[in-house]
Amino acid sequence: MRAVLLGPPGAGKGTQAIRLVEKYGVPQISTGDIFRANIKEGTELGKKAQEYTNSGQLVPDELVVDLVKDRLMQDDCKNGYLLDGFPRTIFQAEELDKFLAEQGQKLDAVVNFEIGNEILIERLTGRRICKKCGAGCHVKFSPPKVEGVCDKCGGELEQRKDDTRETAESRLAVYEESTAPLIDYYSKTGTLKNFNGDQDRDKLFAEIVSVLGE
Ligand code: AP5
Ligand code: MG
Repeated sequence: MRAVLLGPPGAGKGTQAIRLVEKYGVPQISTGDIFRANIKEGTELGKKAQEYTNSGQLVPDELVVDLVKDRLMQDDCKNGYLLDGFPRTIFQAEELDKFLAEQGQKLDAVVNFEIGNEILIERLTGRRICKKCGAGCHVKFSPPKVEGVCDKCGGELEQRKDDTRETAESRLAVYEESTAPLIDYYSKTGTLKNFNGDQDRDKLFAEIVSVLGE
């Protein structure tokens, strides 16, 4: 299974990726997670990416494309992968197409989450992430049993730096301008599958699986 999860910030890409990884046995490649890990570790890449991710702007293409290509060459991607948050620009999509052609591969599907901005802002500003295990939850939609404490490992929950209202709004604007054109790009290739992102997470998962296949 080689698939792209496409959708605005907060659409539920990461939430569905966790379920899809388990179902299809392929890794989730989240460029956002890769940048956040590098920022935490203080790597050169992290230092370069930080100012963009914190303000909700896209990290420049030249810092993203080779990173993803290298990741896709690793052994665990042999049987497929789920790209979460990549591609995000037409340039990145074209580079991915070139890479796939070189490898004699193709995408099976582009899973596109459709959802309105109001609910996205509510999802982003209410999201909390465990400092220790990285699990996500939501203060209203999937609240932890004890406020501020991760249900899974007991770690401390924190808010992502870019999940403030102001930065969330910038991210939605950046999505409209740079990433939404990919819907048209992929609809021309016949790989685009649209889903209603504003529904129960388990129902959405079942719908995605019914389209991608068992
Ligand atoms: P990234 O980490 O990819 O962030 P994003 O695209 O803004 O997406 P999110 O992770 O915020 O949302 P999601 O769709 O995963 O939603 P989630 O499942 O968590 O990128 C961060 C930054 O890195 C970018 O701004 C950019 O700077 C940089 N970057 C990354 N990739 C790049 C690239 N390719 N090029 C350039 N720069 C790049 O869900 C959100 C919340 O909603 C959660 O709390 C969840 O519990 C809740 N929720 C989920 N589903 C449901 C549901 N069905 N019902 C109710 N609540 C739900
Ligand atoms: Mg995510």
